[in-house]
Amino acid sequence: WIVMVTAKSPTNIAVIKYWGKRDETLILPINDSISVTLDPDHLCTTTTVAVSPAFQSDRMWLNGKEISLSGHRYQNCLREIRQRASEYEDEKRGIRISKEDWGKLHVHIASYNNFPTAAGLASSAAGFACLVFALGKLMQVKEDLGALSAIARQGSGSACRSLYGGFVKWVMGNDVTGKDSIAVQLASEKHWDDLVIIIAVVSSRQKETSSTTGMRESVETSTLLHHRSKEVVPKRIVQMEEAIANRDFASFSKLTCTDSNQFHAVCLDTCPPIFYMNDTSHKIISYVEKWNQYEGTAQVAYTFDAGPNAVLIARDRKTAGHLLQRLLFYFPPNVDLSSYVLGDKSILQE
Ligand code: DP6
Repeated sequence: WIVMVTAKSPTNIAVIKYWGKRDETLILPINDSISVTLDPDHLCTTTTVAVSPAFQSDRMWLNGKEISLSGHRYQNCLREIRQRASEYEDEKRGIRISKEDWGKLHVHIASYNNFPTAAGLASSAAGFACLVFALGKLMQVKEDLGALSAIARQGSGSACRSLYGGFVKWVMGNDVTGKDSIAVQLASEKHWDDLVIIIAVVSSRQKETSSTTGMRESVETSTLLHHRSKEVVPKRIVQMEEAIANRDFASFSKLTCTDSNQFHAVCLDTCPPIFYMNDTSHKIISYVEKWNQYEGTAQVAYTFDAGPNAVLIARDRKTAGHLLQRLLFYFPPNVDLSSYVLGDKSILQE
């Protein structure tokens, strides 16, 4: 026999960034972060997990290619889920898997990203959120999404935020075990559904410094990062929560843009410096800044993760239409554009 579960998870985009860990194994951050979850139908990972007595070892395929599960990120997620497994019973098929059996049975995992090829977009966030969610369902884990987010966090920090839809905060927590370092939903996607997210893929080249390595080097060498995590982010988190609660786009946009710029300033303050943005990224920033200034009120926010691709958040559909036209006009043909709306959490696929 074989028992299978398929789940689908969206990616998320941080508007107050996570950058820096206080514990590398448990993946515990040095500050809170806030993100928006995209619609799970577009940029998403779909993962099928299966269990069968015929399986000889745990194995995983990513986009059709077998990958190793030996790293501590996969091992921690698998172990944590197995520890919380409970009995499974399918009377019709005569299958019963006890709590103890889950520790002995092996799983096979097949995962696909539908991201535009090599877009350099946060694939680990959707990937680990989906893996943990699917394994939790398969192994009858009864805990809530908060507890699951603490497990997904151990796969990749940003993944904990993809278990919820809408606006999500990753609370850094204080406990050394990481049990209070979990994601919480601030508001659902319906709370502020005017927003449109446009991703401008500026370069499909693989980034030179991974987020994991980059943030380790920043923690070791950047004094700006320590100022940021202690003095700047705690205030911004409060202001961002207020901006979201009040659907205050001017404040949301200001905080999003300044936080992205400070994150990239931290990268420059790292020794040796890390450059994630390129000339086109800088041109997009100048363009949006000028447009917002010309209109007198913020129309669009920008944010950049560990790469040159721009994530632009337009205040409404009409502005998004204008933005797309302007970007096509000013940045052809090297910028690839696509637009998304906010969406729901990780979901089970029928
Ligand atoms: C710039 O979550 O990819 O996107 O925890 O080492 O897997 P690891 O890092 P990752 O870092 C994401 C960094 C970021 C900001 C953010 O998403 O908050």
